[in-house]
Amino acid sequence: MRRIDSIEPFRVMQLLERAKELEAEGQHIIHMEIGEPDFPTPPSVLQAAQEHLAQHDMLYTPSTGAPALQQALSAWYKKEYGVEVDAQRILITPGTSGAFSVLYAVLLDAGEQVMLSDPGYPCQRNFVRLAGGEPINVAVDASSRYHLTGDLIRQHWQEKTRAVVSINPSNPTGTVVDKQHIMDMSQACRDLGGYLISDEIYHGLTYGIKAPSALEVDDQAIVVNGFSKRWAMTGWRVGWVIVPEHLIEPCRRVMQNIFIAAPTLSQYAGIQALENKDDIETMRIAYDQRRQYLLQALPKLGFDIVVAPQGAFYIYANVQKITDDAKAFCWDVLEKVGVALTPGEDFGVFESNQHVRFSYATGMQDIQEGVKRLERYLTC
Ligand SMILES: Cc1ncc(COP(=O)(O)O)c(C=O)c1O
Repeated sequence: MRRIDSIEPFRVMQLLERAKELEAEGQHIIHMEIGEPDFPTPPSVLQAAQEHLAQHDMLYTPSTGAPALQQALSAWYKKEYGVEVDAQRILITPGTSGAFSVLYAVLLDAGEQVMLSDPGYPCQRNFVRLAGGEPINVAVDASSRYHLTGDLIRQHWQEKTRAVVSINPSNPTGTVVDKQHIMDMSQACRDLGGYLISDEIYHGLTYGIKAPSALEVDDQAIVVNGFSKRWAMTGWRVGWVIVPEHLIEPCRRVMQNIFIAAPTLSQYAGIQALENKDDIETMRIAYDQRRQYLLQALPKLGFDIVVAPQGAFYIYANVQKITDDAKAFCWDVLEKVGVALTPGEDFGVFESNQHVRFSYATGMQDIQEGVKRLERYLTC
């Protein structure tokens, strides 16, 4: 098989296309499938970007990022997590997606493996394959809050495994793991001679709990994060990866070649974003209200939420009481009552046809309307 044939489409995009068609026909569709903030980028960030645009050139920054953003992030890690991170170790990338392309290009030779959770963020598998690697998808369930564990890592490790990815808070489940859990995963990776890669893109979007950074327990962990979610800056395409010292140079070489540098304007906007407190707190509170509403409304309709999510903007619900085919259910719900949900199959194969993902990155009014429509669908 040619490499490109192993790259799977993001299946929910087909569903989204159908939703758009229905909208074009005049229907009001409730979008609970999309994992993108429904808020605009905070005004202070827009203003900083406009000021920067007026005063500065927009030429390339150094490949590893604008030094001012690297330094601002280093100070932010001290304030946010109490960890010292040398600014040189913080590499600025076009979104966290850019960070993963760099990492796998550096870490993997042909046929080497990366361990991922199933369910998990679908693009991960494809990033690994694009670098000529092989994903090892390990089934995770409610017993480990849908996260990999130290034991699972030891159990599934193979000779060619090079790294393990942990997404905390998780996409699609929104579940969060604590320092002890991360420490166990980190210890397993150290014992086996591999890297722990912690995707912390949903940090800051947690409710009643703070997600620890892997750097709090392991200063050699690779941490990936970005401005897309917490700061509502998906389209700015800026993220970062914190690597151990010995990986800076190989990453720099890859970055110079594959994208030269992350977008200059977005990097300067990012510096201002790190200063923002009020807007991001307002968004977080709104997400939490929606989460609480759904956590009480969905079980009444037969959606089982086995572990209450405490992060991101997702609820991963078991639909066994309603259907034995989550995918067909999602398509039918879209056609009959105009509610778009993501079927579990987008996130893996393990019990995927028994699950759907609700995204609450959509306004409360629409969410309430969505629940009413689902009730109507399920009662007639
Ligand atoms: C777990 C996870 N990691 C990474 C990304 C990619 O984000 P970015 O916009 O920073 O490329 C997403 C986007 O949905 C995600 O859910």
